[in-house]
Formats: sequence, C-alpha cells, structure tokens
Amino acid sequence: MQNTYDIGKPFDWNYDNGPVYNKEFPPVPQTPQKDFLGHPVNSRLGIAAGLLLNSRWIKTYSRLGFDILTYKTVRSQYRPCQELPNWVFVKGEKQIDPLQPGETQELLGQQPDDYRKITSSVSFGMPSKDPAEWMADVETARKALGRGQVLIVSVVASPGENSPVSEMVEDFGRLAAMAREAGAQVIEANLSCPNVCTAEGDIFLDAELSGEIAGAMHKNANGLPLLLKLGHFAKDQQIREVLQSVQGKASGVVMVNGVSRRVVDERGNPAFGRGREMSGILGRGIHAFSLDNVRSALAIVERERLPLEIIAVGGIAESDDAAPYFRAGAAAVMMGSAPMFDPHLAIGIKRQHPEW
Ligand SMILES: Cc1cc2nc3c(=O)[nH]c(=O)nc-3n(C[C@H](O)[C@H](O)[C@H](O)COP(=O)(O)O)c2cc1C
Repeated sequence: MQNTYDIGKPFDWNYDNGPVYNKEFPPVPQTPQKDFLGHPVNSRLGIAAGLLLNSRWIKTYSRLGFDILTYKTVRSQYRPCQELPNWVFVKGEKQIDPLQPGETQELLGQQPDDYRKITSSVSFGMPSKDPAEWMADVETARKALGRGQVLIVSVVASPGENSPVSEMVEDFGRLAAMAREAGAQVIEANLSCPNVCTAEGDIFLDAELSGEIAGAMHKNANGLPLLLKLGHFAKDQQIREVLQSVQGKASGVVMVNGVSRRVVDERGNPAFGRGREMSGILGRGIHAFSLDNVRSALAIVERERLPLEIIAVGGIAESDDAAPYFRAGAAAVMMGSAPMFDPHLAIGIKRQHPEW
C-alpha cells in the first residue's frame, strides 16, 4: 500500500496535499460502544499526535475507523517546519536500549518491505500554523468526526531562549483555553519532544513543573479532560513522582513519546544535518520498553489509587502489539507511525478485536 505521508516532500506539501489515499474506503466493522474519558467511542484505538496534520487528515483517518484522533501539536504562534529530511528509516531489528542514551542509530537506505518491522525517526521541530489558522481548522476537524469518535488537540508552549519558566506555564495555560475554544474534546500537552533541545523537550522529567503546567491548563480547560504526553522514564520512581504531581489536574497521561537518539548515515554524519543530531525513534524498536513504562505506570496508579488513565503508545503496528497494552489495563492504544504505512490498520484490528 502507498504511504499516506510522502517523506520525500516537505511538511507543507503534505499539509496542503495529504493524505495520499486514492482508494475506496473499505467498510469499518461495527463494534460495541466503549468509554474514553467520559466520551462514548466505537473503539479505544487511536492515532497519537503527529500524523494527523490537519482536518483533511483527521477526516480520512476517521473514515478508516480510528476513533480517537489527535490533532498534531500546535503552538500559540507560527513556527515553520525544519528542512528535509523530516522522516527517515533506521536499522532497528533489535530493541533500542533506553538506558544507553549515547547509542547511535544507523540510517537504513530504504523502507523495509514489512511495515510491522519498521523503526523510523522523525525531526520536524514541532511546526505550527498561526493560531487563527489552526483554530478554524480544529473546528472543521471536529465537524468531520463520525459517531463514537473523539478529537484530542495536542499543544506545546514556545518558551523564549531566556524567558522565565512562568512564561512557559502561562503559555501552556493559554493554549488550553485556545484548544477548548477551537472545539477540542480532550486537550493534550506535549511535555516530551525528543528532537527539541530546549526546555520544551524534557519537561516531563521535572515532576513539579509538570504539575504546575497541568494546574494552569486544568484551570482553563473548563472541565475538558487534560492529557499529558510523556517520554521514556529510566526509573519507576520518576513515573511515580510525575503521576502524583499531576493527579487531580490531568485526567491521564499518554506514554511514551519517541526516544531521543543520535541518528547517523553510513559515514557517521548526522542524518538530519548538523544542529539536528538528536531525533525521536519510533516504531518497532521502542515497543518493549514503552510497554515496560506503561505497565509500571498502571501498577502505580492501581497501588496508590490515583485518578489517572494511562494511554499507551509505542511500536504498535498490529493486534499482537496492542494486546499486552490492553491486557495491562491501558485506557486506549494509540498508534504514531504505523497508520501511515497501513491506513487500514484499525479496520484489521477491529475485525479481530471488536471488544477493544
Ligand atoms: C510524523 C510524526 C510526527 C510526530 N509529531 C509529534 C508531535 O507533534 N507531538 C507529539 O506529541 N508526538 C509526535 N510524534 C510522536 C508520536 O505521537 C508517537 O509518540 C511516536 O510516533 C511513537 O509511536 P509509534 O511507535 O507508534 O510510532 C510524531 C510521530 C510521527 C510519526
């Protein structure tokens, strides 16, 4: 099947022309109703922040049976995308070791035939259209959803280089109000961008700051559920501290984001170019430790009776990848990169598991 995102073309081309999907829409299996953060949904299968660039992307994937749709992270100001390449394939037959941050990942010349085995890496720099544009488009996206589907809008603050942390917290708070006004049903704050080397990237490792941001957003969300997107944790104690700090303000967390790695070409040069050495690794290579983190978080929530849902993401490209997350008790399973290689993924999973 043809990829829906053309990785050889710039982000703006994909924004204006994508998704590449020239087939008839197959029938989506009927499934019994479930609950997701108080919303009735056909399934708890969704797409994580990233692939759904705008309302056209949301509309296509909603018709393809993905029921929890995340609008790609937006900002309170315009931000251009980084130059090509933005998305590359890396050698990733074996699992990435999250405890070895110095490890490099090598570029793979071409796309592997079996998309379920793909490990890839992205470096976009979290571009954003101007708020007036994305807010109007979120409204259009919301109208495009079918019954039993939910729209999450992902946001991130844009701190100035030397600006105080309080400004970043305020920006996150403002974004919650903007996303709500635009028509989000759930708001998500990205506290973990693996290819951004400023404070935007690893906020989730600071439990107190994460709690402060959650508080500022909760105030402006006016009752809408709030999710926090977290990256990989090396220690369960870190997960515990963050969950304790955000409980009562956030409704849940989405974990884990891609893991930050140096990606190099066959000569050892940075695959995305100088200044963009680190990028987020996604797909097959991150499944095992994403599952570990999700299991730990679920155990903490249960043991400490925290009012938080855990939403899983990381290396899900078929039913067998999703199964252990659901078995562990995840409230939903989100896919990041695999739906671009196989837009019929949700249809296939629903046929096998209508109960999800
Ligand atoms: C094209 C693309 C762009 C992404 N951009 C974002 C983003 O803007 N915000 C975010 O929180 N995560 C972003 N992600 C990360 C995904 O949400 C997800 O965490 C990651 O792809 C891991 O899931 P996977 O293994 O199923 O691909 C992006 C992923 C992809 C594939």
